[in-house]
Amino acid sequence: GKQILYNALMATMNPGEEVVIPAPYWVSYPDMVLLAGGTPVIAPATLENDFKLTPEALEEAITPNTKWFIFNSPSNPTGAGYSWDELKALTDVLMRHPHVWVMTDDMYEHLAYDDFKFCTPAQVEPALYDRTLTVNGVSKAYAMTGWRIGYAAGPEKLIGAMRKVQSQSTSNPCTVSQWAAVEALNGTQDYIAENNKMFTRRRNLVVDMLNEIDGVICPKPEGAFYVYPSIAGLIGKTTPSGITITDDEVFATALLEDTGVAVVFGAAFGLSPNFRISYATSDEALKEACTRLQKFCAALS
Ligand SMILES: Cc1ncc(COP(=O)(O)O)c(C=O)c1O
Repeated sequence: GKQILYNALMATMNPGEEVVIPAPYWVSYPDMVLLAGGTPVIAPATLENDFKLTPEALEEAITPNTKWFIFNSPSNPTGAGYSWDELKALTDVLMRHPHVWVMTDDMYEHLAYDDFKFCTPAQVEPALYDRTLTVNGVSKAYAMTGWRIGYAAGPEKLIGAMRKVQSQSTSNPCTVSQWAAVEALNGTQDYIAENNKMFTRRRNLVVDMLNEIDGVICPKPEGAFYVYPSIAGLIGKTTPSGITITDDEVFATALLEDTGVAVVFGAAFGLSPNFRISYATSDEALKEACTRLQKFCAALS
């Protein structure tokens, strides 16, 4: 998946061109844009809006130099998933700016919970079809992280240019991985629903335990396997060992040192003060980690 996104940027970006990236973002997006010679333009998607970009914020981020809008729903790192109506509000903005192309990273398509229904830009607004690159992969739904298989659909000319970048860099992913991906995609899909039951349970466990903490607010995400709680209410407090929590990086470091629980601090994803937990692990480990987190936060003064 990563290679596909990178190929598309390498094939299309010219110096001075901009890419709109909602924050919090998957850490690779801004760096990929920089590597491809472009300029990332960060558009905030705040806690108040459940980490979803508003049409106003998208409108404000677009300039005559905008080449791409990178969209990721459900999202890494927040798990936020856009409903049809929420996405339609964004595609309406894009319809007013015909020079902006859409790169949609649908990696978490199948990891959707409760009554959330996944949708993707070219489906919500078919008129965007000719300027949309739809990206997906087997890493998440098929638990094949490490096999390095992603795929994309888009206008023929764009795919042709991406193919050139690929063929002059890594050539292709190995055939072993390609055949494994064919099997994953053509084989039975039943276990995805089973997995999602498990993920729903783990999400609820983590969200509930985090929201029991004074000073922590954790929206319940629609998909993926991440939560992105705010620790705004803990900033300025001090640990028993005398460390003042000045930002989310200090929080994550103190938490790791005092309790052994590893989280990723929000600054890495472009929105603070927050941290990310991946709940793609056992119920027992999550319960233990959240209990330690609760104790750590209760001890702050
Ligand atoms: C949003 C997002 N896109 C893409 C990827 C990368 O997928 P791949 O393993 O196919 O490179 C990830 C993996 O963490 C991701 O979270």
